[in-house]
Amino acid sequence: MGGTGNIGEGLARRICLSGKYDVIIGSRDAGKARCAADGVMSCLAENSCTGTSCTGATNADVCDCDIIIMSLPFDKLASTIETIGKSAFENKIVVSLINPMIRNPKERYFLPDHPVDGSAALALQKLLPVSAKICTGFNNVAAGKWMELNEELDYSVVVCGDDLTAKRIVMDLVASVSKLQPLDGGPLAISGIIESITPLVITLALNNGLKDVGVYFR
Ligand SMILES: NC(=O)c1ccc[n+]([C@@H]2O[C@H](COP(=O)([O-])OP(=O)(O)OC[C@H]3O[C@@H](n4cnc5c(N)ncnc54)[C@H](OP(=O)(O)O)[C@@H]3O)[C@@H](O)[C@H]2O)c1
Repeated sequence: MGGTGNIGEGLARRICLSGKYDVIIGSRDAGKARCAADGVMSCLAENSCTGTSCTGATNADVCDCDIIIMSLPFDKLASTIETIGKSAFENKIVVSLINPMIRNPKERYFLPDHPVDGSAALALQKLLPVSAKICTGFNNVAAGKWMELNEELDYSVVVCGDDLTAKRIVMDLVASVSKLQPLDGGPLAISGIIESITPLVITLALNNGLKDVGVYFR
């Protein structure tokens, strides 16, 4: 959902290129989503990747997928779920890459802006049915890197969540993309720490003339 944004289309390209997953790009506007999906399909053809498909649909239609990735700004999350109806998320694996943050207007730094629940992922868990399995994933990979297909993504992706099977499935999805290293970050209670890494890496990029800073744990 929100698959037409800075992150969404590049993420869709990379996941389809793995050859292991079909992707539905979700949007409030199905036409906009179809347009983004056409871009992904052209990219797959250019790379002689014929095994997987990408289609565009409404955000509600994305709930037919086994894994739902929420690629929305945090302040649009509750209204999006309300519009769709939370029952559509029953028993689904739901991945949050959402990092609420604020920029200090005068100085060159960003800070996490955690909601009262402690993190966006924990707030998402509260908004969805108890049967939904929430995991974090892809939080700390910069948007620019997703679209540059000639570049390898050699970053760590910390996946946390309370359902071990769902977490394993999300880690397999992460491992299918370029050189991403999935790491088990433990339960969803850890998600606030993961979301806090992104404002740090953006601040490091700003103040040190770096581009697309990321993390690799070793
Ligand atoms: N940008 C980064 O480098 C980066 C890195 C890691 C994680 N993240 C996280 O990833 C998430 C998405 O980031 P992004 O930069 O891709 O966001 P974005 O481009 O600003 O927005 C993503 C999508 O959200 C949808 N949207 C916008 N306004 C909406 C509204 N009022 N109601 C419902 N949907 C709305 C739009 O889709 P439609 O118009 O098609 O509905 C838009 O394409 C954020 O939570 C961010 O914290 C970002």
